[in-house]
Amino acid sequence: MSADEKRVSLDVDPEALEQIRQQSIVLVGLMGAGKTTVGRRLAEALKMPFMDADHEIEVAASLKVSEIFEKYGEDHFRDGERKVISRLISGKPCVLATGGGAFMNDETRAIIKKTAVSVWLKAELELLLERVLRRDTRPLLKSGVPRDILGKLMDERYPIYSEADVVVESGDGPHSRVVNAITSALAKWCASKGATS
Ligand code: S3P
Repeated sequence: MSADEKRVSLDVDPEALEQIRQQSIVLVGLMGAGKTTVGRRLAEALKMPFMDADHEIEVAASLKVSEIFEKYGEDHFRDGERKVISRLISGKPCVLATGGGAFMNDETRAIIKKTAVSVWLKAELELLLERVLRRDTRPLLKSGVPRDILGKLMDERYPIYSEADVVVESGDGPHSRVVNAITSALAKWCASKGATS
């Protein structure tokens, strides 16, 4: 597919687009929800820089996420995750895909809420499962049956993810549909914020 074919045409007007571009957009949600893939397409459509928190953590630590978990444990990873996310969203507005646990950390969530607009990419268990089973790089899925682990994480995390500013269903349709759903929801969010400020 060429870059032009990949480019998503957005349904929102230029003024709304300009407002959306004023702050960083942070994608949250479970592993397999499509935060990185959709985030990249969203950034392209909005002409904003794209960042992936897990990738930036790996660069900063010179280690893979799974190696950080193995060598230093999850708490150490969460600490680095908070620092990296804080650094990334305090710069020029960008689209940032975060790892599934980032928004669960009280401090990280507070930084995101204060500095950026958060978007929960919500997906059904079957879709998440199908996607996460394509790779075996996720440390949290190694300690048991992935379906059970994901189900438990859904129970624990969905009430917190629902604190995101915007919630968008991430189905298995074309990415352009999700990108458009996000920008339309963000346009509404910007308008409602403008109306109350
Ligand atoms: C995690 C999700 C992973 C990664 C780490 C922990 C989580 O990112 O940050 O393995 O706690 O859900 P993805 O959501 O991109 O898979």
